[in-house]
Amino acid sequence: MSFIEFRNVWKIYRMGNVKIKALTGTNFTIDEGEFVVIAGASGAGKSTILNLLGGMDSQTTGKIIVDGKEISEYNNKKLTTYRRNDIGFVFQFYNLVQNLTVRENVELATQIVKDPLDIDETIKAVGLEDRISNFPSQISGGEQQRVAIARALAKNPKILLCDEPTGALDYNTGKQILKLLYDTCKEKKVTVVVITHNLAISAMGDKVIKVKNGAVESITLNENPVSIDDIEW
Ligand SMILES: Nc1ncnc2c1ncn2[C@@H]1O[C@H](COP(=O)(O)OP(=O)(O)O)[C@@H](O)[C@H]1O
Ligand SMILES: [Mg+2]
Repeated sequence: MSFIEFRNVWKIYRMGNVKIKALTGTNFTIDEGEFVVIAGASGAGKSTILNLLGGMDSQTTGKIIVDGKEISEYNNKKLTTYRRNDIGFVFQFYNLVQNLTVRENVELATQIVKDPLDIDETIKAVGLEDRISNFPSQISGGEQQRVAIARALAKNPKILLCDEPTGALDYNTGKQILKLLYDTCKEKKVTVVVITHNLAISAMGDKVIKVKNGAVESITLNENPVSIDDIEW
């Protein structure tokens, strides 16, 4: 059995009388420790996949299995525990608490989980030891995203889910963030799933899942993923 499995997953949003088919029978697997890129155009269903995998939303039909557990069967209480302990999220717009320092932002996340990592070690690992006492408004966008990554990692999650993590960053800063995510995946053996609408980034994935109109268009395995340093767009 795979570490993560989507089995014929459908997600239909109902808005009044209108039904929006966001996912129409999605199938894929992800191995533990894999760096996975989910690519596709805006509206393809990428965020829906991530939200279901992260326990932020529930499928309409189908099975989602994570680490031997059928999370698609979970009730709200179990999903909350799963979201807290097993999943780290990184979003496009960092979502840091503005009146807390870098350290306090990371510390806050560790307070809700059962087995957190060392706060200072984690901040050091993302290269922010010198900015530990700064507030978000005092650091750059790239540094703020590093805080968001540290906050997610400090929870010691099984899976790190990143929805367009470089969407608000300039070219070079975005590349540095992708490098940090890739290195984290390989060094800490965390499974990392990154959503992007930039197909160039696909080359760095161990696995690339292309999504189109709510369906998986293709799944590619890269025997030799390209370093982000060698990818240009
Ligand atoms: N909460 C929601 N309610 C209604 N429709 C939604 C909701 N979330 C997403 N959708 C729709 O589902 C489709 C897929 O959205 P999404 O997964 O966000 O795509 P992507 O992340 O690839 O841009 C889109 O048509 C979007 O408008
Ligand atoms: Mg999206």
